[in-house]
This record gives sequence, structure tokens and C-alpha cells, in this order.
Amino acid sequence: MRTHYCGQLRSDDIGATVTLYGWVDRRRDHGGVIFVDLRDRTGLIQIVSDPERTPVSYGVADGLRNEYVVKITGRVSQRLEGSLNPKLSTGEVEVYADAIEVLNAVRKQLPFQVSMGEPETSTVREELRLRYRYLDLRRERMARNLQMRHGIVKAMRRFLEDEADFMEVETPILTRSTPEGARDYLVPSRVNPSEWFALPQSPQLFKQLLMVSGVDRYYQIARCFRDEDLRADRQPEFTQLDMEMSFLSQAEILALNEQLVAHIFKAVKGIDLPLPFPRLTYAEAMDRYGCDKPDTRYGLELVEVSDLVADSGFKVFSGAVKSGGMVKILPIPGGNEVISNVRIKPGGDLFKIATDAGARGLAYIRVREGGTMTRSGGSKDNLSEAQKQEILARTGAQEGHLLLFGAGDAAIVNATLDRVRQAIAKEMDLIPADALNLLWVTEFPMFEWNADEKRYEALHHPFTAPHPDDIADLTTARAVAYDLVFNGYEIGGGSLRIYQPDVQAKVFETIGLTEAEANDKFGFLLEAFEYGTPPHGGIAYGLDRLVMLMTGEESIRDAIAFPKTQQARCLLTNAPAGVDAKQLKELQVASTFKPKPKSEGD
Ligand code: AMO
Repeated sequence: MRTHYCGQLRSDDIGATVTLYGWVDRRRDHGGVIFVDLRDRTGLIQIVSDPERTPVSYGVADGLRNEYVVKITGRVSQRLEGSLNPKLSTGEVEVYADAIEVLNAVRKQLPFQVSMGEPETSTVREELRLRYRYLDLRRERMARNLQMRHGIVKAMRRFLEDEADFMEVETPILTRSTPEGARDYLVPSRVNPSEWFALPQSPQLFKQLLMVSGVDRYYQIARCFRDEDLRADRQPEFTQLDMEMSFLSQAEILALNEQLVAHIFKAVKGIDLPLPFPRLTYAEAMDRYGCDKPDTRYGLELVEVSDLVADSGFKVFSGAVKSGGMVKILPIPGGNEVISNVRIKPGGDLFKIATDAGARGLAYIRVREGGTMTRSGGSKDNLSEAQKQEILARTGAQEGHLLLFGAGDAAIVNATLDRVRQAIAKEMDLIPADALNLLWVTEFPMFEWNADEKRYEALHHPFTAPHPDDIADLTTARAVAYDLVFNGYEIGGGSLRIYQPDVQAKVFETIGLTEAEANDKFGFLLEAFEYGTPPHGGIAYGLDRLVMLMTGEESIRDAIAFPKTQQARCLLTNAPAGVDAKQLKELQVASTFKPKPKSEGD
């Protein structure tokens, strides 16, 4: 029987006989004395074997290799003065192995070193780590991430169940399309040929139905599926902490969620987050940061100057304003020192960031001694002295400032300056290392205009309630919707829902959904709403993103035990994969895929 985990032993245990199980992290032979670092999920302990003190185990110890699974019984001893290891929690003690039993050997060459003593996981190619994920998860960094993920979920459950009376309810995975707007993953039904289930993009509709059922406070650690383009913070299959509440106002929902998030940070990191979290309206966030999930750990706020340059002689500026766009400045204190003209002009890295975001380029002005300006293109020459002075006053720019200008369509200007702002903050090291910045963004617009399809689309989803002051014209209405932003990442989002049929009908009408289409898609929900619906609202957190940020990782894959690659593949199981013709036949499904003809020389 195991008496201890490896990482638990301390000087208090000296003299005790212990039985440990684990993996051989490393074995070293120091001239006849064999040291084995034994590892389990709690950490490492040094095991010692030599021919004199532990003659029985010595032969076995000699034959051990990395990653063998062993059982060790021995005596806990004080380490010698010179061999204390302050880096290990068990560094004051070691175990003299009276008996070592090999439970399982390693029969193949390890694809990479697993040892905790090895350099960081990042030095091993990610494909290799994902292919042998079970070995990768033995390593310190990933083992720590998994532990923290578990700790976060545990803290969520403790708070929601024990402090706030939430009840977990599971909702179906085989279901109908949900309204989040990404592509669905589809599953054919064998017993209902030609019909398909959609995997849920979120439990949105079911959690609203649960409010109609009187569940009052629902939560679920819910798996969601979205077939969308993948990025460093997105997975096709991800996990939400999903919540829905009846009879609460937005203010009450936000306050309760602040308590929840504070509880998680306290339980997992021992940190007291200051409450309440700051709030920004969507309009303010776009204005000051060009982005609806601003990273406010640093300044570099944008300044709009459309009014100042509307009638300047510089066509790029005046033209942008005349055609309904805007001109905005990203003022960079000290930017003259670090950012050369070459980087802003065609071929430069900042130019590329701007053009990738849809801009034609970046105009700029450098503020020199005494507030004089040097320029790019026509941006200085065609500004009057008064305009220049006003720009200086509004941006607060002083000697050494670089002013980068975005001019044109508002969405493009914002997207451009947002990306440039982030790149410059990183480059100039403006992001404080340990800052934890949580803020709510509220009052999102109800709809955005889809120029390709020439229609309005719900920004959140079509069940989001419009702001009561904005009912008259829904096309410009604000929604009672909120996102929680953590260091520039959207980690959660939710809204109050519509529960009155007349408002719901207006929303469907605005997004061009006919009554028949609405009934076809969501008829079951609309029908349920006819039977007594409480006012309700909710939120969902991206658990994987939260874990990524709390563990300090840069990729969501490092927050998930078995993630998928950017190509939406699982390298461990090699999914997705072809299936037997027989299975397809049973499902009455045939592929229309035609492999590319092989060209000569292939
Ligand atoms: P939303 O679509 O904003 O809202 O999703 C909620 C949160 O889920 C996370 N998230 C993702 N994480 C990883 N990979 C993805 N592909 C991915 N997509 C989203 C984000 C996001 O903030 N039903 C609504 C919630 C509600 O209204 O209550 C919903 O799903 O962190």
C-alpha cells in the first residue's frame, strides 16, 4: 500500500518507513551509489541505493531506466549538508530504498525527455508533444496546467453550488443548431435517414428552457463545438462554464459573477481581486482602444481627430471624413526613438500589420523639439499650424512622440490601430508582468451590418434583450449584453434575454428572419415562452481561455489535456479519419469529395 505521494515527504517524516509508487524521472550513478528521482503527480523525491546500506535493492536500482514504473519501500533520511536541494519541496530528505520492484519497464525509445529536470516543454516540437500527449502530460509544465484547470473548475463548483445555490444540469450533445453563428459540426442519424444532429455551439437554448422550467439558477461545465477558423485562443471543441439565472437584473448578474471570479482567483492563486471590476461601454472601448476587448494594462489610448482634419488639404484625411469614415491617432510616447520610418513605410513590419488589417498604410507625424513636427507624405504639409497645435493639445503629444494616423472606414481604422497598439506595447515592454486586468464591456450594439449579405446580424445572438431605451429603432439599439475581458482576451460573454413575444418578433424582423423561418429554427423555444417565462439572463465563460491566462500560457492547447491542432486534428488518435464504407452505407451518407488528381512526378 502506498503510504505517501512522492512530493509529500518532509523532514518531519525522517525515520519513517514509506512505500511510494511512481516513475523514474532520472537515474544517476555516482560511483557505486545510485540516485533515482522518483516522480508522481505531486513532485519528486530522491531515492538512494548502494551495495552497503541497501544491498537488496541495489541490483534492481542499477537496472532502472527513465520512465520505468516502480514501487519503492524505504526509510526517510536527512540529506547530507552539501546535498540539500532547496528547489525541491522534498529537498531536505531522501529515501534509502530497502526494496524496489519494477512494475513496468519502458520498451521503446522515448520520443523526448520527460524528466522534470529537462528544459521547458517548449523546446520539444509541438507535433511530437501532441502525438505523445500522455508523456507530455507527465512533464512538469503540463501536469501543473492540468492541476490548475482542475483547481479552477473545483473553485467554480464550490462557489456556484455552495455559496450561490446554482444547480448543474446536463444538456444534450446531439441536438439542433444553436444560434451562435459559427459553422455546425453535424452527425448523421442512422435511424432517421437524411436527417442530422448538430453538436451544440453552446447550451444556449436549453439553458433558457431550463429557466422556463423553474430551475432558477443553472450552471454546467459544458462542451461546445464550433467549426470555425482556429487561432491561438480558439479550439473546435472547447469548454464553457455556462450559467443562466432568473429574476436578476444586469447589475445583479455582474455583481454575482464578480464574486465568482474573485472566488476563483482567491482559491487558485491566493489573490484578492479588487471589486467591482471596471466597466466600459462598447462605444467607449471602441473609441479609446479601437477594440471591444481592450487590454488596459497599458495606456496608448487612441484619439479621434476627424473633426480637426475634416477640411485639411490632405485628401487622405479630409476624404476619409467626407465619406463617413474617421481619422484617429495612436500617440506613442518615446516612439521616435524606437520606431524608424522604414518600419512604417511599404515593406516595414508596422505597414504590414496595418495593411493586413485592411488599411492602405499609416500616415505619421514625429513631434520634435519645441513641438515642431516632421511628417510622412502630406500629413504635415497640408495641416495648418492651428490644426497641428490642436492635434498636439488633444493627444497631449510632446517631444519624442510618434503619432500614427489611421484614416478611412471606422471599422478598418479601429482594427488597424488596435493591432498596431498591441504590437507596440509588446515591443516597448509596456505590459506590466503580473498585472491582472479584468473589466466588463457593456452595451454592445444589438446588430451589425453584414455588407456582403446586405442585412443586419445579431451581434451576440437573437435572444439578447435590447436596451429598454432603444426599442423604437432596433437597428441602432444597444443590447443588454456584456463581455468579461481579461488582459485583452474575451473570457466570457452573456446578456439578458428577451422574454416578451412582441420584442422577439421585432428582433427576428430586423435580422430578416420570417416568422416561418424563426419557427423552423427556434419554434420549440418560442412555444415554450408562451407558457410563462421568467425574466432571465446568463453568461458563459471560455474555461480553456481562462486556464490559458491563469497558467500564463500563450496557446489554448496548453490548457487542454487532449487538444486539436490548428488544422482541427487530434494527432494522438489521428482523428478525424475515414470510416468503413459499411458505416456510411448504414447512414445513407456518401461523400462528394474528389481527391485532387495526382500530377506527374508526384
Ligand atoms: P460566446 O459565443 O460569447 O457566448 O461564448 C462564450 C465564451 O466562450 C469562449 N469561446 C471559445 N473558447 C475557445 N474556443 C472557441 N472556439 C470559443 N468560442 C467561444 C469565449 C467566449 O467569451 N451562449 C452564449 C453565452 C450566453 O449568452 O450566455 C455564448 O456561447 O471565452
